[in-house]
Amino acid sequence: MMYVVGNLKMNMLSREEALQYIAVLKREIKDRRYTAVKSILCPPFLYLSDFVHLPASVESGAQNVFWEKSGAYTGEISPTMLKNAGVTSVIIGHSERRGIHGETNEVVKKKTLAALKHLLVPIVCIGETAEERRTEETARVLEQQVRSIFADLSRMQAEKVIIAYEPRWAIGTDTLPTSGEILQVRVLLRKILTEQYDAQLAERIIILYGGSVKSSFLPAVTWEAGMDGVLVGRESLFPYEIVKMMNILEEHATVESKD
Ligand code: PGA
Repeated sequence: MMYVVGNLKMNMLSREEALQYIAVLKREIKDRRYTAVKSILCPPFLYLSDFVHLPASVESGAQNVFWEKSGAYTGEISPTMLKNAGVTSVIIGHSERRGIHGETNEVVKKKTLAALKHLLVPIVCIGETAEERRTEETARVLEQQVRSIFADLSRMQAEKVIIAYEPRWAIGTDTLPTSGEILQVRVLLRKILTEQYDAQLAERIIILYGGSVKSSFLPAVTWEAGMDGVLVGRESLFPYEIVKMMNILEEHATVESKD
């Protein structure tokens, strides 16, 4: 299965806009059925109850979650609330949460565990900053992030995690790593996960690429780089771009299966 995850961030300023987005998405997908691609669209919390009614092959996800179930946690949303609202997935540790809201590896780990306990799929973001890249610390930083996420996860829990590799310098910039660089990260992540679990399990864990993704870059950041899909920011604001990406990945998978 290939994934197109859309991170709509803090956009769509009214419910009307959200409903309009869903209407265009439905029109673009029509009654097309996907066998090899799934999309997960992550709107602001306010619109999740509308986004749970999407066409087949498109699910809804949240952009953040807290780790407690309920109680005196002003401003937070719990994993149980998301699950009860029909949400299937949640983005955790996005670089904007790490950078602007100070989320540490420890916080990301707690949120990941809480999501898994409540049967939500955690889409956990990792990535190095421009400075870490410049000083050749990418591998060390990614290893720390990944080891922390998986430290306390059982095999069954680990298999459910989706990792999104998003180099922080590539988000919102139109500068992307090469396929070769992304592939190197994939190899590194598989190696770490093989050490912790085993090669078969490591192979099953889904890894996405994110950061300035456009439909024209899809081959370079997915199949040429050994990735299982993409996490898309700006381009996900255009429903037809989401559908276009789903179509490209579906077509590629169909051609592959015929070869
Ligand atoms: P971008 O954002 O596609 O606009 O670079 C990606 C992200 O923040 O997940």
